[in-house]
Amino acid sequence: MHTPRRKSPLGPPESFKHVRKSGSLPIFVVVLSIFLFAVVMYSGDIWSLAEFSFGRFRSLDVLPQLLSDDQHDGRNTDAVAEDTVITVPETCDLSTGEWVYDDVTYPLYHEEQCEFLTKQVTCMQNGRRNDTYQKWRWQPRDCSLPKFDARLLLKRLRGKRLMFVGDSLNRNQWESMVCLVQSVVHKGKKRLSIDGPRNIFYAKEYNATVEFYWAPFLVESNSDDPLIHSIPERIVKADSIARHGEHWKGVDYLVFNTYIWWMNTAKFKVLRKKAKDWTDYEEIVRADAYRQVLKTWSKWVDENVDPNRTSVYFMSMSPNHFRSEDWGNPEGVKCAKETLPLLNWTGRPLELGTDREMHGVAANMTRSTGRVAVTFIDITALSQYRKDAHTSVYTVRQGELLTPEQKADPRTYADCIHWCLPGLPDTWNELLYARLLAVAAKNHR
Ligand SMILES: *[C@@H]1O[C@H](CO)[C@@H](O)[C@H](O)[C@H]1NC(C)=O
Ligand SMILES: *[C@@H]1O[C@H](CO)[C@@H](O)[C@H](O)[C@H]1NC(C)=O
Ligand SMILES: *[C@@H]1O[C@H](CO)[C@@H](O)[C@H](O)[C@H]1NC(C)=O
Ligand SMILES: *[C@@H]1O[C@H](CO)[C@@H](O)[C@H](O)[C@H]1NC(C)=O
Ligand SMILES: *[C@@H]1O[C@H](CO)[C@@H](O)[C@H](O)[C@H]1NC(C)=O
Repeated sequence: MHTPRRKSPLGPPESFKHVRKSGSLPIFVVVLSIFLFAVVMYSGDIWSLAEFSFGRFRSLDVLPQLLSDDQHDGRNTDAVAEDTVITVPETCDLSTGEWVYDDVTYPLYHEEQCEFLTKQVTCMQNGRRNDTYQKWRWQPRDCSLPKFDARLLLKRLRGKRLMFVGDSLNRNQWESMVCLVQSVVHKGKKRLSIDGPRNIFYAKEYNATVEFYWAPFLVESNSDDPLIHSIPERIVKADSIARHGEHWKGVDYLVFNTYIWWMNTAKFKVLRKKAKDWTDYEEIVRADAYRQVLKTWSKWVDENVDPNRTSVYFMSMSPNHFRSEDWGNPEGVKCAKETLPLLNWTGRPLELGTDREMHGVAANMTRSTGRVAVTFIDITALSQYRKDAHTSVYTVRQGELLTPEQKADPRTYADCIHWCLPGLPDTWNELLYARLLAVAAKNHR
C-alpha cells in the first residue's frame, strides 16, 4: 500500500494553511489573505490545477440551411457502419499491455483539424517541437482495441447524451472525445456551448451531445464554481450530491472521475454534518474521506440511475510526473525533458506518488454489486508510462501562453498533470469506446 512519502508538489505553501481557521476574521483580512495566497500560488506548481479555465470556447452557429450537407449527413453513412460492430470480450483486461510506436494510425486527429481544442492542450501550436508523443498505440496484452469509428459512436449516441463528470482531467478527456467525433459532423452542424457548470458539444445531424460537468469532488464542495474555483483550502460536503446529481439524471452515458483535487494534503477537510458554514470541518485521512465520498456517489447512482437506460463508467486516476528520479532519469526536470514513454520498465514497481489506496477504494466501490453496474476503466498504469505526454511548458497560465522566460524555467512552470491533445486522453477514450460500444451493441435493436 502506498503511503505518502514526500510532501505533495501540489500542496499550498505551509504559511497559508491556517489562514482561515479562526472563522471570524474580519472580511477584509480574509479577502486579503486569499489575494496574497493567489499571488503566491500562481508562482508555484499549483497554478496548473488552479487556473484551469472554462471561458475560452468558440461557439459555432448551427446553419441548417446548408442543404448540400444533407447528402453526406450522418444518416446515410449509418448503413455502412450497421454491421461492422467490433467488440472486445468483456473479460479482456484492457489495462495490461504495452505502448507500441505507430505513426500510421496515430494521431487520430490533428490539432489544427479540431477547432474545439483549447490553448491549454495544443502543445505543438504552443511551441513543442517533437510530436513523437502523439504516435503511440496502446496494445492490451490479451486483445486489441477496436479501431475508433466516430460515425459508429455518433450513431449509437443518436438522440442520446454522453456526459463526463469530474475534474480537469475528465475535462481533458471530454475535449479529446469532442475532437474524436467532431470530424465526421459537418461544418455548421456542430456547436459548443456553456451552461453553468456544463460544457455541451452538440452534433445536430445526430441530435447527440458530448458534455462535461464540472464537479471536481463529485459531491458538493467549496470548489464547485466552474470559473472561480482556485480555492486554497478545499472542503467537501461528503454526503451532499443531489444538487449536482440533478444535472446527471436521464443522461444515457455517464463517465465519472475524481482524483487530482484530493492530492494537496495527506489529510482532507470534510464538513461536519450540521455545519452552518465552510469553517466547521474535520480533517480526516485522505483515503477515508475519498471512501466516504464515493459511498455517497455510489448511493446516488443506485437510487437515480435507470440501468435499462443508462451506462455508468468510472475512470481511474490520472498520474502526475513530477520527479524524474521516479522513472530513473536523474537528469530530468519534472516531465519537461521527456520525449518517449517509459518502455520496458521492469524490476521495481513504478512509484510516481499515485495514491494506490484511493485507487483501491475506487476499484472496490465500482465492483460492489448494486442495482446499477459501474464499469471501472483503469487508465492509471498505462498512463504512468506516459511521462512524455504532459503539456509541460507548452500550455497556458491564467489564459495566456507561457512566456519564453517561463518556458525556460520548467522546474517552476511545467504542467505535469494535464495532457497534450491529440495524445494520451485519446487512448482513454479508446478504452471507453470499447466498453461503451459493447453495451450499445447489446441495447441496440
Ligand atoms: C434529441 O435528443 C434528446 C435527448 O438528448 C431527446 O430528448 C429529443 O427528443 C431528441 N429530439 C429529436 C428531434 O429527436
Ligand atoms: C429493466 O428491464 C427489464 C426487462 O424489460 C425489467 O424487467 C426491469 O424491471 C427493468 N428495470 C428497471 C429498473 O426499470
Ligand atoms: C523526437 O524524439 C524522438 C525520441 O526522443 C527522437 O527519436 C526523434 O529523433 C525526435 N525527432 C526530432 C525531429 O527531433
Ligand atoms: C523493449 O523490449 C522489446 C522486446 O523485449 C524490444 O524489442 C525493444 O527494443 C525494447 N525497447 C527498448 C526501448 O528498449
Ligand atoms: C478492496 O476490497 C478487497 C476485498 O474485499 C479488500 O481486501 C481491500 O482491502 C479493499 N481495498 C480498499 C482500498 O478498500
